[in-house]
Amino acid sequence: MPDSLAGKVAIVTGGAAGIGRATSLKFARAGARVVLADVDVVGGEETAQLITATGADAAFVKADVRVAADVEAMVAMAMQTFGSLDFALNNAGVLGSGAAMIDFTEDDWDYVMGVNLKGVWLSMKYEIPEMMRRGGGAIVNVSSVAGLVGSQHSPAYAASKHGVVGLTKTAALQYAPHGVRVNCICPAAVLSSMLETLVTRNPQVGERLLASQPNGRFASPEEIAEVVVWLCSDAASFITGAALPVDGGYTAQ
Ligand SMILES: NC(=O)c1ccc[n+]([C@@H]2O[C@H](COP(=O)([O-])OP(=O)(O)OC[C@H]3O[C@@H](n4cnc5c(N)ncnc54)[C@H](O)[C@@H]3O)[C@@H](O)[C@H]2O)c1
Repeated sequence: MPDSLAGKVAIVTGGAAGIGRATSLKFARAGARVVLADVDVVGGEETAQLITATGADAAFVKADVRVAADVEAMVAMAMQTFGSLDFALNNAGVLGSGAAMIDFTEDDWDYVMGVNLKGVWLSMKYEIPEMMRRGGGAIVNVSSVAGLVGSQHSPAYAASKHGVVGLTKTAALQYAPHGVRVNCICPAAVLSSMLETLVTRNPQVGERLLASQPNGRFASPEEIAEVVVWLCSDAASFITGAALPVDGGYTAQ
C-alpha cells in the first residue's frame, strides 16, 4: 500500500509497544503522520523516534485513556501539530489479573474496564467531532476473540472486550451519516508483552492457547497492523460496524 495514506493523520493509543507500535510504524510507512499516546513515556518516545528516523512525522503525547482531560488533550495535540484527524486506532489495553469470577477484586474490575472500555469510549468521544468537522474518518477499536466468545482467563477482560464490540456497532450506526466508519478487530493471541505476561503467569495457559489455534501459531503485531491500516484505507470504504476476527481460525471452531 505505498503512500496511499499520504497527507493523512492518525492517532494510535497504546502506541508504546506491541500492536500499537507496529501499527504506528505501518501508518507512517503508508504515508500518514502519527500521534501516538501511552502512559509509557519511554516506549512512546521510542516509537516516535523509530518513525522520525525514517523521515516520517510522529509525535508522542503522554495520556491515560481513562482520563477525559488526557484524551481531549491527545486529540487537541493532533489538531495543533498536524492540523487534521483522519484515522484512529483505539488500542490501549490491559489484561488485569487472572483471578476467576468469584475472586476478582473490585479495584481490578474498575482498572480493566477503565482502560479497555471507558478508554475506547472517551477516545471516540473526542476523535469523532474532529472527523465530522472534516467530513469523515475511520476508527478501528481493538477488541479481542474474548469480545466474541467467553474467556477462561479474566472476567473483566472478556466483559470489556464484548463492550468494545457494542460501542463499535453503536458508533458506526450513529456516525455513518457523517462519513465516519467505525470497526473493531478481534485478534487471537498476538506476540506482545501482554501475551508474555499471560504465559509467564501460567505457562500452561500459553500451551493451551497455542494448541487451540487451528493454524498452530500466534500472530505477530505486524499482521494485526496490516489489517488496521487496510480497514482505515479507502480499500475498506464500505465496511463499518464490523467486528472482524483476526484470529487464525480461532472463532471458526
Ligand atoms: N496480545 C494479545 O494476545 C492480544 C489479543 C487480542 C487483543 N489484544 C488487545 O490488543 C491491544 C494492544 O495490546 P498488545 O498486545 O499490543 O499489548 P501491550 O501490552 O504490548 O500494549 C498495550 C499498550 O497499552 C498501553 N496502556 C496500558 N494502559 C494504558 C492507559 N491507561 N492509557 C494509555 N495507554 C495504556 C501500555 O503501556 C502498552 O504500551 C489491547 O487492547 C489488547 O487487549 C491483545
